[in-house]
Amino acid sequence: MKLVLAPLADFTNAAFRKIAHELGADLAYTEMVSAAALAHGSSPTRHLFEMLPGEGPVACQIFGHAPDDLAFAAHEATALKRFVALDFNAGCPMPRIRREGDGAALVPKPQLVHDLLVAIKRETDLPVTLKTRPGPSPDRVTLFELLDAAETAGCAGFTLHARFTSQMHGGAVHLDLLAELVRRAHIPVTGNGGVHDEATLKAMLETGVDAVMLGRAAITNPAIFAAFKGLPAPSRKELFLRHIEYLLDLQGQLSRNFPNDHVPQPDGFVSVALHRHLFHYFRGIPGAAEIRRRLNSIRTLAEPRALAESAW
Ligand SMILES: Cc1cc2nc3c(=O)[nH]c(=O)nc-3n(C[C@H](O)[C@H](O)[C@H](O)COP(=O)(O)O)c2cc1C
Repeated sequence: MKLVLAPLADFTNAAFRKIAHELGADLAYTEMVSAAALAHGSSPTRHLFEMLPGEGPVACQIFGHAPDDLAFAAHEATALKRFVALDFNAGCPMPRIRREGDGAALVPKPQLVHDLLVAIKRETDLPVTLKTRPGPSPDRVTLFELLDAAETAGCAGFTLHARFTSQMHGGAVHLDLLAELVRRAHIPVTGNGGVHDEATLKAMLETGVDAVMLGRAAITNPAIFAAFKGLPAPSRKELFLRHIEYLLDLQGQLSRNFPNDHVPQPDGFVSVALHRHLFHYFRGIPGAAEIRRRLNSIRTLAEPRALAESAW
């Protein structure tokens, strides 16, 4: 069983991917990288390309709607010689993304998706994959045209988040459509959406997918990879402290590699991650609300470490 960490903007930086890899994820994705921002020379966008030593295989995900921008992004990502695949995002439902014609704005436009994939493929020798949705809404399924677009463009894989764009990130996961996709596809299919326990994992595996992609369940509990694979997992306390160490490694690497960019100091860098992500490690333990309150006001790295010592 192949398990994949989903691309998750603001979460799947190198530090978190390394944690997921160590816990059994077979593949992880970068956060989505804006092709337009890269093409306009945004240096901070390149921070998303960073990998840490010791990470497992990483696919780079790009998004956009202009063939030239995507070709540029594909070229730049490939030149780094660190990614195992290049993924094209045609599924992000956030209004600010769709307004630009990116992400899920492409779900009703299989021909354009095809042309953009061709533009990407021309610039890379990496396997190119597509991540998308079954259609804009339940009354309009474009999935099989999107599959055709991916296959004729020469894609090496297809990931389906089996919820319609109109559902955003909630509601029913359409496993029937996923199973039909698997039947029709000539390329490997990765299934995604709502897998968070043994029962939801089993239901997705029954569709015949080649791999299962985990999103939010991995944010709240990265040890889910180990649990699904029957591997031993470190304690939450150990994971929390390890995550901080990897964030510090990433901060150091970014500061060295991008001396002209504003990379926050170690304390600031880790506190942003603490506010956004690391408090999940304390979920469900006694006093979690109070711990979260304290995490929101940390100023030095000694504080979360002390908190970990007192919480577990
Ligand atoms: C906070 C957040 C950030 C996300 N960022 C991305 C992204 O950068 N690229 C992408 O293709 N999907 C992104 N997604 C969608 C996930 O990759 C995944 O398709 C979705 O969460 C469904 O899987 P799940 O039910 O296991 O969470 C994001 C979802 C969330 C909740």
